[in-house]
Amino acid sequence: MLRAGSEKSRRFWMDGRQTLPWDCFLLARDTLAIGFSNRLNCIGQPLSLLHDKQVLSTYPLKDEPMMKALIRDRYGPPDVLEVRDIERPKPKEREVLVRVHAASINDWDWQMLQRPMVPLGFNTPRVRILGSDIAGRVAAVGSGVQRFTVGDEVYGDLSRFGSGGWGGFAEYVCAPEVALVRKPSRMTFEEAAALPQAGQLAVQGLFAAGPLRSGQKILINGAGGGVGTIAIQLAKSQDVEVTGVDSAVKFEMMRAIGFDHLIDYKKENFARNGRRYDLILDTKTTRSPFAYTRSLSPGGTYATVGGDLSRLFQFVIFGWCIRQTTSKTVRLVMLKQNQDLPYLNERFEAGQLIPVIDGPYKLSEAREAFRHFGAGTHNGKVVITME
Ligand SMILES: NC(=O)c1ccc[n+]([C@@H]2O[C@H](COP(=O)([O-])OP(=O)(O)OC[C@H]3O[C@@H](n4cnc5c(N)ncnc54)[C@H](OP(=O)(O)O)[C@@H]3O)[C@@H](O)[C@H]2O)c1
Repeated sequence: MLRAGSEKSRRFWMDGRQTLPWDCFLLARDTLAIGFSNRLNCIGQPLSLLHDKQVLSTYPLKDEPMMKALIRDRYGPPDVLEVRDIERPKPKEREVLVRVHAASINDWDWQMLQRPMVPLGFNTPRVRILGSDIAGRVAAVGSGVQRFTVGDEVYGDLSRFGSGGWGGFAEYVCAPEVALVRKPSRMTFEEAAALPQAGQLAVQGLFAAGPLRSGQKILINGAGGGVGTIAIQLAKSQDVEVTGVDSAVKFEMMRAIGFDHLIDYKKENFARNGRRYDLILDTKTTRSPFAYTRSLSPGGTYATVGGDLSRLFQFVIFGWCIRQTTSKTVRLVMLKQNQDLPYLNERFEAGQLIPVIDGPYKLSEAREAFRHFGAGTHNGKVVITME
């Protein structure tokens, strides 16, 4: 796998198609969400471990009712993560127990590893087992589950679901059935684990202004990471010209997956090179809204899925003015979970999407995988397998 790198900054996200007060509310909610989610949960296990509803049927499980999980008791660098044996969870109503085969690291996991910016007076993390994007096989179903049976191969994003969420870096996790979709049989568990958050941010960012049109010029900023490596493949199923901005060390991989033009952000500021784009999809948001607007063609759209918090606030403040006073649109995209997994399945089945996987790492190598992600040296998605 190709590697590249620089220190990853703290990044946040928010939604932007709505009115200014709503934008502000969403920003405040999600900024605080990291604080709250890190602090208000339970005591060393995902919340689903605390529930013990009837298990209706079982997939051959290991004999012992224990599992390996990547646990942390405190905030800090990846060194705080430890693989430990803990009790296996049991699915409650409308939940399934998934034997996790692979899970991927998201920016959100990285942020939650560290002490939240908003101090709320709690010293231990709420979420003890990180990991939201998982792929595996249904091992047991709780009462009321209708869409899945034991043995089904599934994947999804558990991050904001139900009272617990997370818990994916473990051999087993309980998930509400609504958090999961069936995995195409040709898709590997590693590929499936790479898709949920990054794939859907790619879809929701790329199509923020509606379907792509033939001949459009698109720029993806932060193009060599999870979102960019999926977005380029979805875009290139149309007749569009795509420029990718990232560090040069990722260019070989980026060329291989279809980028027409490449810009090394360490050498060139794309917002000052005079070129115009119909759509800019940004995962980094390191510039002011006005700099990005300058790089848009008339009628063009800028969509950010995340980046520097202070910059994102500027989009909340100035985004509305830009929309009112120019023909251009700026949008802050809030992830809609698991809405677009069926679409990603279709693109995969049509041979138009192959997730770029960095690794996979074993659970015992999880600290190294997190360090690699945190350094920004990864290509595509960093995947950890539980085998
Ligand atoms: N909207 C939501 O609801 C929501 C939900 C979850 C996550 N998010 C956000 O969505 C984003 C996910 O992006 P991702 O998974 O693709 O991240 P990623 O895998 O970390 O990729 C980001 C890429 O940007 C590159 N990069 C770093 N600095 C750059 C710069 N100044 N200019 C251009 N490229 C630069 C990085 O390369 P190097 O560092 O190696 O140079 C890396 O290849 C994150 O910002 C996350 O916080 C949003």
